[in-house]
Amino acid sequence: MTSKTLILGQTLRFRANPFHAPIEDAVLYDARGGVLVEGGIVTETGTADDLRRAHPDVTVTDMGDALLIAGFVDAHAHYPQTAMIASWGKRLIDWLETYTFPEEMRFCDAEYATEIAARYFDLTLANGTTTVCSYATIHPESVDAYFAEAKSRGLRALAGKTCMDRNAPDGLRDTPQTAYDDSRSLLERWHGQDRLSYVITPRFSPTSTEDQLAALGSLWAEHPDCLMQTHISEQTDEIAWVRDLFPSARDYLDTYEVHGLLGPNAVFGHAIHLTDREQDRMREVGAALVHCPTSNTFIGSGLFDMGLAATHRVGLATDTGGGSSFSMLRTMAAAYEVAQLRGQSLHPSQLLWLATEGSAKALRQPQIGNLEPGREADIIALDLASTPAIAQRSSRANDIWEAVFPTIIMGDDRAIRQVWVAGNPPN
Ligand code: GUN
Ligand code: ZN
Repeated sequence: MTSKTLILGQTLRFRANPFHAPIEDAVLYDARGGVLVEGGIVTETGTADDLRRAHPDVTVTDMGDALLIAGFVDAHAHYPQTAMIASWGKRLIDWLETYTFPEEMRFCDAEYATEIAARYFDLTLANGTTTVCSYATIHPESVDAYFAEAKSRGLRALAGKTCMDRNAPDGLRDTPQTAYDDSRSLLERWHGQDRLSYVITPRFSPTSTEDQLAALGSLWAEHPDCLMQTHISEQTDEIAWVRDLFPSARDYLDTYEVHGLLGPNAVFGHAIHLTDREQDRMREVGAALVHCPTSNTFIGSGLFDMGLAATHRVGLATDTGGGSSFSMLRTMAAAYEVAQLRGQSLHPSQLLWLATEGSAKALRQPQIGNLEPGREADIIALDLASTPAIAQRSSRANDIWEAVFPTIIMGDDRAIRQVWVAGNPPN
């Protein structure tokens, strides 16, 4: 018999998308609720009293007034950029050449890749992030290191080999054929194993030839259940460069589309400066967009249009190390601020949704992202008074939204009181 655990606290879950439905309909909140976990799965939710009465013999973990929600889902990150986060003074292309590529070069060394993968998951778990969709480097070793580490911790995790065959330094380029061959053998090794998913990963159009994009389009056609992730329209200089490199393309999205790299399982990072056609086409095919707000302010890229969340699948992400934090709380705060600069006010429920269910949906991971019976029990307990500054503000809250918003805006890893990965504390 598998053991059952009843976790008690304040509980918050979603029954609809708060960008589509009124907040009262979208959210289920219990001031004293519970989550019953059995065999790594959430089997029941409800009030603490009802669950205790129905299950008098189960082990109880009482988190007091902490807020239980689904673990955070970071829909776009670069784990190999862990050690060069917060690198000063450059915009996208210079930043890649000055800081990113030299660091990524080091991942030909499997030992280094393993060291950084372990460090990365230590940091993300400490921040309450239980699933990440990451770019690796061009080196197959970097993918192996990431998945081996995620597997040993029982994590649901996604990643792919970053493919580049031009406009990158020696030692950081593959070819159309090796990109195809290496991606395919990594996909066959890892995709669907335990909680792991392989993601076909051309870095972005400027660093792939048309032949490489076509080769990866073919691979995706052979494995359409995989996600395909890439970057699009992050900075205006980048878009101008794409126009020069692909003179016959209608727009940036077209550089992917003509090579079979657009579909319902496509995940596009940044997507800040999209044309109307690009937005319409992405909606038509059901492709996902991922907002990376700390990266967009840190690298100076621009302000994502959160209005798109009404019509498109939108996820939220750190984009470390272009992003300036491993924390999805810091990322939600940045999303709030970016939206304010566009005259949009995001409700706390919308921010929490983006960091959990929204990202899970962007990544087509219906098993996670919400504390709903049947979901995998990746759960976090948020301390809503984790610092004196937050505590003095949340103490005068009149409702859960006023209580949680100070943690969203001012919180960090100190607010993560407990993490469960498939029902267990992380190892
Ligand atoms: N565009 C292509 N590669 C990258 C990357 O590593 N980080 C960011 N922020 N944008 C990119
Ligand atoms: Zn990125």
